[in-house]
Amino acid sequence: MPITGHAKTAGVVGWPVDHSRSPLLHAYWLARYGVDGAYVPLPVHPDNLATALRALPLLGFRGVNVTVPHKEAAIALCDTVDAQARRIGAVNTLAFDETGRIRGWNTDAPGFMANLGAGISGFDARRGPAVVLGAGGAARAVCAALVDAETPELRLLNRTIAKAERLAGDIGGPIRAMAWAETAAAEALAGAALLVNTTSLGMQGQPALDLDLSALPVEAVVTDIVYSPLETELLRRARSRGNPCVDGLGMLLHQAVGGFEAWFGVRPAVDGALRQAVLTG
Ligand code: ATR
Repeated sequence: MPITGHAKTAGVVGWPVDHSRSPLLHAYWLARYGVDGAYVPLPVHPDNLATALRALPLLGFRGVNVTVPHKEAAIALCDTVDAQARRIGAVNTLAFDETGRIRGWNTDAPGFMANLGAGISGFDARRGPAVVLGAGGAARAVCAALVDAETPELRLLNRTIAKAERLAGDIGGPIRAMAWAETAAAEALAGAALLVNTTSLGMQGQPALDLDLSALPVEAVVTDIVYSPLETELLRRARSRGNPCVDGLGMLLHQAVGGFEAWFGVRPAVDGALRQAVLTG
């Protein structure tokens, strides 16, 4: 869709940023809702993050998404940050006001929950213990989302236990940090209602996720935030033993809703057509 001199502008700040699918998905929504606007990739080296973020409102930008490796550094550059993002320690969405003040929040957490809700009708985190694999940036958002959704117990498995312990302390709630050993994994999976992979294991070009699922109840929901491939080996194995599964692409789509609404003034829908556009784009 052509843009005019009145176009509203937003984008995604990352380094590198060429892997990001956000321009594709926002372009789809801009066309679908007939918005006079543009969403562009903004490659910004970490050394230049502060300068670039302060300059964007001066250039008329409404706001931006912030992606790897800037999500933690960006929080310190915000003038206001909401409480959940502060606990997570990272922002992925920024909106600028007329005076250039930066408001930051984190849509990965609500995006994660919205994806589960869309994939599993009546999903309720209160039903039973959750197991989360990994304690990196993505895990922090997933754990905050689950604690806020009142999961009764969150078993957090990570190769580096100290990182899991730090996450548990920062996020609060019923998080139990566990070392990722075979025995601990079986203990964690027993009686679980939800299993989430937040590590990069199983992603194209990364090592496989080696986890024996035999202790996991077949009713447990399994989800992977990796979406390349769309059906990871974890999801394939879980599905074949009868577990309901949700792939990770939906989290990417749902996390984008809040920013689009703030910058362009329309709350966009996440549906099959958007999914197809992002998959084939
Ligand atoms: P993101 O922001 O995507 O979460 P990250 O912060 O780099 O990325 O976190 C990556 C996660 O994957 C971490 O939990 C990491 O474990 P460590 O904390 O022990 O580093 C996990 N991870 C990555 N490669 C792994 C591997 N080969 N085996 C086990 N865990 C791995």
